[in-house]
Amino acid sequence: MSSVSLTGISMALLGLLALFAGEVTAADLPEHVNNPFAGADMYVNPDYAREVSLSIRDAGSKALAEKMRSIQGLPTAIWLDRIESIAGGPKNNNLLGLREHLLAALEQRREGVPLVVVLVLYNLPNRDCAALSSHGTLDYRAGGLDRYKHEFIDVIAGILGDPRFASLRVVIVLEPDSLPNMVTNLWHPVCRMVNRHRVYEQGIRYAIERLAELANVYLYLDIAHAGWLGWDESMRKAARYYAQVLRGIGPWAINRIDGFATNVAGFVPVEEVWLPDPDMQVGGKPVRAAGFYAWNPRFDERDYIESLYPVLVSAGFPSSIRFIVDSSRNGWGGPERPSAAPRKTLDVDAYVDRARLDRRFHRGNWCNPTGAGLGPRPRTEPFGPGHPIAAFFWIKPPGESDGTSDARQTQPDAEGKRYDPMCDPAYIVRHGPHPSLKPTGAMANAPAAGHWFREQFEMLVEHAYPPVRRSQ
Ligand code: GLC
Repeated sequence: MSSVSLTGISMALLGLLALFAGEVTAADLPEHVNNPFAGADMYVNPDYAREVSLSIRDAGSKALAEKMRSIQGLPTAIWLDRIESIAGGPKNNNLLGLREHLLAALEQRREGVPLVVVLVLYNLPNRDCAALSSHGTLDYRAGGLDRYKHEFIDVIAGILGDPRFASLRVVIVLEPDSLPNMVTNLWHPVCRMVNRHRVYEQGIRYAIERLAELANVYLYLDIAHAGWLGWDESMRKAARYYAQVLRGIGPWAINRIDGFATNVAGFVPVEEVWLPDPDMQVGGKPVRAAGFYAWNPRFDERDYIESLYPVLVSAGFPSSIRFIVDSSRNGWGGPERPSAAPRKTLDVDAYVDRARLDRRFHRGNWCNPTGAGLGPRPRTEPFGPGHPIAAFFWIKPPGESDGTSDARQTQPDAEGKRYDPMCDPAYIVRHGPHPSLKPTGAMANAPAAGHWFREQFEMLVEHAYPPVRRSQ
C-alpha cells in the first residue's frame, strides 16, 4: 500500500481548484488518466464467479461446463442496486459489500499494474420509470431522495474515500436508463412524476458532486444505446439535456465527467456486419426504412458512438470524453447468426431480417431475449487509442435476469422487483406510444431481475460471439 505524500496532497488540491474553476478537464486531475482501462487489469468479482459455479455444477455436458469455466474468471461490474448492497451480507443475498470488494481488489492488484473496479450505481428513487421489473426500493414521495443522498451516495463516497483504496481506479457507471427515460419516456405517468420533481437530475447531480472529489474515481453517465436514442433528433435532444443536467451542478462538472456508458444491460451488437450502410437501397427503399430500424440510421453501437461523440462535443462536453460499451450480451452467435450478406430481394423487411445479427422481434424488446449470446470480452481500446470507445466491458453480469416472467408476481418483492409483461413470452407488445404488435421473445421461467437465470446463462454461452472455446 502506498502512503500519500504531502506534495501529493497539495498537488491534488491544486488540481481540484483548477478543475472547479472550470478551466481543465478530468484528465488534468493528478493521477487521473484519460482512459482508466488503458494499461490496467480489471477486477474479477468473486460473487459472479460463484454464480457461474452454480451453472457449471448443473451443466448438462462436460463440454458446456468447460466453456463456462473458461469465462468464469472474466471481469464484470458490481451493481450497487439498493442501500443494503453497500454493506452486503445476509441483508443482500449474502453478496459481498463494497468495502469487501475493494479489499479483494487490493489483493488482486499486481505490483506496478493499475487495477480497475467497475461499479454501477443503480438506486435512484422511482428508477426504471417506464417499466415494472426493476423499480427498486426508494420512492420520492416517501423521502427517497434524501435517503438516496445520505444513506446511499454519502456512504459510498465515504468508503471510496478511504485512503487504502486510493491506488485503485474506480469506474462508476451512473444510473442506467435514468436520463434516457427523461429524454424519451415522458408519455409514462411515473416518468412524468419523476420529471416534474427533477428526481433523477437531483440524485445524479448530488452523486457527481460527492464523487468528483475523489481523483481516482472515473464517472460515466449512462446514455442508452443505438436502438433507443440513435435518431439524429434524439441524440441532439439527449446531448443538450445531459449538458444542462451537468451545468446545474456548476461550470466545472461537464469537464469532470470521463464519458458515457452505452448498451448497459442491452443487446445491440457492436457492429451489424452485413448492414454497413443504412442508406443502401433494397426494393427502392433504404434499409433503415425497414420496420426493425424504423428509420433510425444507427444500427449498432459503433455507429451510435461515432455519431454521438461530435454531438456531445458540440453541446459543450470536452473532446476527452470516452465511451464504455456493455458487451456482455450482444454477441448473437449460434446457428442462426447470418454468415454472409443475403441476396437482394425486393422486400426491404425481408432483406433486413435476414441480414441482421440482432435476432430480436423488435428492438424495444429488453427482457431476457431468446437467442442472445455473450458478446466481445472486456477489452481496452478495441478500435485503437484515438477512437472514442475506451473499452468493452461486461457491465450487466451475463446470466443475471432482466425480470421475472411469472405473471403472479404483481406486488413488488423486498428488492422492489415484480412482473413486467415485457418479460412474458406470451405477451404481444401493445403498450407504449408505439406498440410493436410483436411478441416479446422473452425466455420462460425467468427469475426476478438480477437473480441467476441458469437457462439464460447456458444460452448466452452457447450463442457467444466470438464463440467461447473450451480452454481460453
Ligand atoms: C437488474 C436488477 C439489479 C441487478 C442488475 C444486474 O437491473 O434490478 O438488481 O443488480 O440487474 O444484474
